[in-house]
Amino acid sequence: MSSVPSLPIVRTVANLRAQVAAWKEAGERVGLVPTMGALHEGHLSLIRLALAHADRVVASLFVNPAQFGPNEDLAAYPRDEAGDAALLAAAGCHLLYAPGVGEMYPQGFATTVMVRGVSEPMDGAARPGHFAGVATVVAKLLLQSGPDLAVFGEKDYQQLQVIRRLVCDLDIPVQIIGGPTARAEDGLALSSRNAYLTPDQRRAAPELNAALQEAAARLRAGEPVAAVETAARARLTAAGFARVDYVEARRPDDLGRLGPGPIEGPARLLAAALLGRARLIDNVPV
Ligand code: PAF
Repeated sequence: MSSVPSLPIVRTVANLRAQVAAWKEAGERVGLVPTMGALHEGHLSLIRLALAHADRVVASLFVNPAQFGPNEDLAAYPRDEAGDAALLAAAGCHLLYAPGVGEMYPQGFATTVMVRGVSEPMDGAARPGHFAGVATVVAKLLLQSGPDLAVFGEKDYQQLQVIRRLVCDLDIPVQIIGGPTARAEDGLALSSRNAYLTPDQRRAAPELNAALQEAAARLRAGEPVAAVETAARARLTAAGFARVDYVEARRPDDLGRLGPGPIEGPARLLAAALLGRARLIDNVPV
């Protein structure tokens, strides 16, 4: 007879802190994996990475209204707490923290965490207020749970660098670990928003990664940054992407701009483009 593992769920900061404190008193290392739910293999790979570094793993599930713009997909964002809890339990996660909006942002809440510099270009420019919403909720999640480590996906590479900056600047005592991007066989980065793609759009979507891989190879071969970025944008437009928000080669740590000529050291190539209703993002190291 097989048994389905179940997952304890807490919804308040007080209950979360009590459980984490009990584990720490027992000498256990605690890892946190923040999510907005609609979990897929990418999230589960982050849970497994956290389990490799910690004795206990907490996943949080909170669709954070503060990081969605007024015309974005907050209302449509896929939600399936029971399905997510089953996947987390099967992956070996120990606790789900699923607060309501009133627990995260109680009456009178008035604080915003803004990370200058690294959060300003690319998604920061295309989605005003997005990274302030992310930084605020991530600071809260880290302070609420007090983990030894927290794992975030490299798919959201700019977000990862914003979080590294915020943890360093606010002296939050936690190790931040980046998890490699999980991909479908055709190279498309796994994302909850891939659910918005029609079958035709799904067939076109791997072009985003293909364009980045081609651009990375051209940069490695010494071609100038400006020409490579322009060619990648043209490839995405030709593939049917309705709007290309950016294709940019940046410094890997602070995401500062590179000169227009050939790269002189490591870089990160990042892109965001709209395909139908889905705004897809991806990035690759160079
Ligand atoms: O990457 C996400 O899913 C979200 O931005 C995060 C880090 C859980 C904050 O809401």
